[in-house]
Amino acid sequence: MLKMEGVTKSFGGLQALHDVSFTINEGQIHGIIGPNGSGKTTLFNCITGILPLTSGNIYFGETKISGMSADRIANLGIRRTFQAGKLVPSLTVLENVMCGLSRFTAADGVDVFLRPPFVKSAREKAVRKEALKFLAAVEMEDSADRWASDLVWAERQFVQIVRAIVSRPRILLLDEPASGMAAKETKMVGDLIKQIQGMGITVVVVSHDIKMLMEAAEWVTVFNFGEKIAEGVPDKIQRDPLVLEAYLGTEG
Ligand SMILES: Nc1ncnc2c1ncn2[C@@H]1O[C@H](COP(=O)(O)OP(=O)(O)OP(=O)(O)O)[C@@H](O)[C@H]1O
Ligand SMILES: [Mg+2]
Repeated sequence: MLKMEGVTKSFGGLQALHDVSFTINEGQIHGIIGPNGSGKTTLFNCITGILPLTSGNIYFGETKISGMSADRIANLGIRRTFQAGKLVPSLTVLENVMCGLSRFTAADGVDVFLRPPFVKSAREKAVRKEALKFLAAVEMEDSADRWASDLVWAERQFVQIVRAIVSRPRILLLDEPASGMAAKETKMVGDLIKQIQGMGITVVVVSHDIKMLMEAAEWVTVFNFGEKIAEGVPDKIQRDPLVLEAYLGTEG
């Protein structure tokens, strides 16, 4: 579904990604691990069109997306969350989630004007209901009307994910969704990821939380110094000597 072919990204003399090739299969939960600075976020930035590649190609199905604008890529159904929980602080939780709908408004540009207003409001109601359902999944059903600026770190991460879900992406890229979370919240993230997959959305998740990632992911790709050093099912990855040396070993 998403295919990286010789993806290379340099920042001056630093190669953040070097000749990376792999495929993300439709419907899968695909985990990505690697030490700090190994190029994981840079890969997300390249896939979503925030950064141009130095060389190589990225395909979404048959469509070459490397070289496209970030907006166009998002409208194809590729969505992400950010490592540092970006929300609009002056909006409420629910308003932030509704921002995720821009995909529909962009895609439906003409029909928004042709449709009578009650149709739009019916759809908004449906989305509101869905948003509340996902907020409930992370025990935030009572937080819909709180200001985003009042949220704690873990809550901001959750709202980012819910915002991405309501846009009904085809692929959702999660960058460290469980960072800074306690065990209970981390488990909620793992459960939510599986729920997202159940909706038919392909999920790519970067995480330092090896336990959560290995439990949720069906396939794992490992990076070190901008290169792909291993890939496979979680069981195999956890026993791969190269991976243990590069990464898991440092976790004890
Ligand atoms: N915009 C940028 N300009 C210059 N260097 C960058 C830029 N973005 C990333 N880098 C460098 O590229 C390398 C890979 O960074 P990246 O953020 O992709 O790592 P990461 O695997 O996501 O790390 P972490 O686990 O800490 O989030 C690092 O050496 C980083 O300093
Ligand atoms: Mg990162």
